This record gives sequence, structure tokens and C-alpha cells, in this order.
Amino acid sequence: MAPAAPPQQPQASQTSGASGPPAAAAAKKFPDFVPPTSLIELPDGVRRLHLRRCKLVLTHGAGGHPQEFSFEKGEIRIGAMEDNDMVVGDDTVSRYHCKIVQEDNAYVLQDLGSTNGTFINRVRIREGFLKPGCTVHLGQSELKFYAGEEEVEIVPSRKDRCGDIIGKNQKLREIYAIIEKIAPTNTTVIIEGETGTGKEVVAQTIHKLSARSSGPMMVFDCGAVPENLIESELFGHEKGSFTGAIMTRQGLFEMGDGGTVFLDELGELPIDLQPKLLRALEQREIRRVGANKPIKVDVRIIAATNRNLEQEVAAGRFRQDLFYRLSVVRLILPPLRDRAEDIPILVRHFLKGGSYNKNPDGTPRIKGVSREAMEVMQGYRWPGNVRELLNTVERAVSFADSDTIEARDLPEHIRDQARHAPVRPPAAAMAMATAGGTNPALRIPTSPGISAPPAPMAGPPPESFESTFKEAKERWVSSFERDYIVALLKKNHGNISHAAREADIDRKYFRKLMKKYDIDAMGEDDSDDE
Ligand SMILES: Nc1ncnc2c1ncn2[C@@H]1O[C@H](COP(=O)(O)OP(=O)(O)OP(=O)(O)O)[C@@H](O)[C@H]1O
Ligand SMILES: [Mg+2]
Repeated sequence: MAPAAPPQQPQASQTSGASGPPAAAAAKKFPDFVPPTSLIELPDGVRRLHLRRCKLVLTHGAGGHPQEFSFEKGEIRIGAMEDNDMVVGDDTVSRYHCKIVQEDNAYVLQDLGSTNGTFINRVRIREGFLKPGCTVHLGQSELKFYAGEEEVEIVPSRKDRCGDIIGKNQKLREIYAIIEKIAPTNTTVIIEGETGTGKEVVAQTIHKLSARSSGPMMVFDCGAVPENLIESELFGHEKGSFTGAIMTRQGLFEMGDGGTVFLDELGELPIDLQPKLLRALEQREIRRVGANKPIKVDVRIIAATNRNLEQEVAAGRFRQDLFYRLSVVRLILPPLRDRAEDIPILVRHFLKGGSYNKNPDGTPRIKGVSREAMEVMQGYRWPGNVRELLNTVERAVSFADSDTIEARDLPEHIRDQARHAPVRPPAAAMAMATAGGTNPALRIPTSPGISAPPAPMAGPPPESFESTFKEAKERWVSSFERDYIVALLKKNHGNISHAAREADIDRKYFRKLMKKYDIDAMGEDDSDDE
């Protein structure tokens, strides 16, 4: 095979903060720029999806007639074999000849080691950017490449679930419609929502519905890893690049090659690492710590945050260029209190699937929920969202003494709040779910309050003796951890750094425990982030 001259690689656009989305800058620079798939919010509240489409016209091939193909997929394989996305039945075309990869702002054509070569505008290439209108030759077949665009209005799906996401709320159904359109593409997605609203479930669903589902899904929690280790965890390191780097190690991006990298709690990513992530997003390459050469990676990035990134940008804690780059498709998950209509279907789902609700013969122990109990749950504000609902159902299953969950099986603070909900303003109702009602910023969704710790602290609950030692112990440890964290936060007026210091545990671990138990402390001053 003749050596192919790699085409000129365009420089990634580096936008400075105020100049608007990087897409605009790139459009001016490169003829191969293709506007990314993105969500557009119109002033009247209507949302549209700007979808990229790769159009290929087979102008000269085995069949003789021009044929048009249109793809939204992130990767289009072309060749003579039937399992290609585009089958070209020409003797001069290899079985798996080449592929077109949709990058965020461009399409790249890659030869897959074909016998007769792949050409863009008559220049043989191994890999090259496709400019809309260019001609591609594979053997004797000729293709014209066009970057189609389409704006589609988002019509809410009619389904009650999408992948692992359960719910029929209108906003959620809009999200289903968007997911179905964008999952097959390579588009970067950012998922926002309060704790427990299902951000990770959405990320998993996008991965499962994508062409990358057979590849890995790597999850990285930016808030749970000490700052000095994040870079090497994400990008890997070379042997000897720092004390303790005794061997070369791959990072998450390399391990996720061919799949998806899910960056959880992205708002926690230190600002000095943000340009490195931007580079990985724009150029699809990473550099291990201590390495000189970059490594190409093929990953789709999904990020999640329960911080408001716009506010983080305004406060100078999050880079604007990275924010623009990530926010082409933003999915904002509604809190459970705004979709009480989903509570029955979620509860049914949890009762059906939970191992905690199984008799030894596999039949469900609890078969339903009384109308009163359901009303109580629908009247509560669920600050811990679906996770809190799941915990509540699990707890109620162990409390119920018939095959139905009754209102009395629900925690007191949920019953109380639901009873008072219609006559109380939301702020007061929220305060009832706080630690002892003294600090409205401190919410403990699944605990009746600091001043009245849950029953397990007073002695093992009767159901402990029905479970194995390991299960009972885990429950006890969880109960202790939650109450300990809540009490410390209360003592420190919600200041996480102070509370963590007093406990003599790492602040990140402290945060992790808070997250585990749905404890949310918007304390007085937690800005002394080390
Ligand atoms: N729509 C949903 N359908 C089914 N299960 C859900 C849904 N939303 C959340 N869950 C369940 O609730 C729990 C919390 O969801 P998840 O971990 O995705 O939340 P999150 O938004 O990532 O929270 P955090 O910000 O605390 O990380 C999980 O057990 C998940 O399976
Ligand atoms: Mg999460």
C-alpha cells in the first residue's frame, strides 16, 4: 500500500471566555466545521434539537444508479460486507473498507486497511477531515459527502420508561425524546439535576442505547478522588512520573476507548485540570502524566453535576470555554416533588425489582401500597428525590406486617410533612425535614431529624434478627454513619470543611458519605476548600 499523507489536522479552537461558544470561532476557521448536534431553547420556551446528519450519495458504483444514504450515527462503517452500515457491492471495495466518525464539530474518514485505498478529492488518506461537498473514492466507487442538518421540534415520547429511567412526567418524556435522538450520535451530553434525580441512570441509558453499548462505560466521580490524583486517574501516568508511580498506568480515558466516559460531579473538577479535559474533548486525545506524546482516544463523554454550572462560571470556579463545549446538549432532570404523578409507578417498580422484597421462593413479600400511604408519599417534598423514595420503600417493606405498605410503615417526618403540606408554605414544609428544624439549610431526607435519631440507634430493630449478621451490621453501620454526619454538620452550622476536620476524615470522603445518605448541607461558609 502506498504511504498515505495524513491530511492537515486543524488546530482546535481555543475560545477565550467572552467570545461566545467555540463552535462559532471554529466555523470561521475550518471549512470542514459542521455545527454540532445541540439543543436550542427558543424564547417562547419551545425546545428544538439541531441534529447533524451525514449524507452520502453513491454517485458512481456497482449498481450504476445514484443512491442516497443518511445517517445520524456516531460511526458509519462502509464496505462490501453485509454488516456494514453502508454496503458497497463493488469488487474493488474491501470487506471493511473505511469508516466515518462523527466528531463534535467535524466528520473524519478513516481507512480500515483497505486493499485499494480510500481517497478524499483524489488524495489517498489514512485519516482525513471531510469537507461538506467533497468526493470520496473507494476502489471504483465514488461517494459525495454532505453534512446535513435538521432542526426537529421535541415531541414528548408517549412511553412511561426509557431504558432504565422510569416515569411518565411530561418533562421526563421530553427527555426520553431527546435521548432517543442523541444516544446513537457521539454528542457530548451534560446532565443536571438535584441529588437523587437519576443523573447516573440517564447516563447509563444513553450508553446502553448508543452504538457504543458493547464498549466500556467508565464512571469517574470528580468529587471523590483527592485533587492531586485526578489527573493520573483520568489520563494515566508514565512510570516514574511522580513519587509512587512505580509503573506505567492507563487512565480512565484510555480504558474507556470505544465506549463512554461518565464524569460525575463535574462541578468538583479542579480548575487547573479543566483545560486538559477541554483538550481531550476537542482533540480526542490525552497525554499521560509524565508523557510527551499524546494518545488518541475514542470516547463519548457524558458529564453530570448537581451544581449550577452557570453560577460556577460566574463565580470563576468553572471555565467558560469548557462549559460551552459541554453544554451542546443539556438535560435538566426535574425533581421528584415536581412529578408526584410518577411516584406510584416508581414505587411499583421498586417493589417488583428489589431483592429486599422477595420471599425465599422468589415471590414478592409486599404486593401493594394502601391508598393512604400513596397519598402520604405524593404529598411529601422528597429533597433526596428518587433515591430517598427508594430508601423509604425499602424501609417500609421491612416495617410492614401485612402484604401491603400502610401509612404507618412510612417514616414519621414524611407522614408529618404530607399531613401539613397543603396548609404550609414550602419553606416551612422544608424546615420540617431539616435537622431538628433548627437549620433550614441542612436537609436530611431519610432521617426524622437530629434531635430524634432513628430507632436503630436505640437498639437493634426486630427485623435485624430476620436478616443475616452481615446485613444487620451493614444497616447498623449505615445508621450510625448517617446520624454521626448529620450531628456534626448541625454542630458546625452546615460547614462541611469544619465538620470533616472535627471528624478527622478527608473532606471528600465526608462529602461522599453525605451523598450516600442524601444529606445536603448548604452551610454558612464552606468556601475554604483546601
Ligand atoms: N427515573 C428513575 N427511574 C428509576 N430509578 C431511578 C430514577 N431516578 C433515580 N432512580 C434510582 O434512584 C437512585 C439514585 O439515582 P442516581 O444515582 O442516578 O441519582 P443522581 O442524580 O446521580 O444522584 P447524585 O447527584 O446524588 O449522584 C438510584 O438507585 C436509581 O436507580
Ligand atoms: Mg450520581
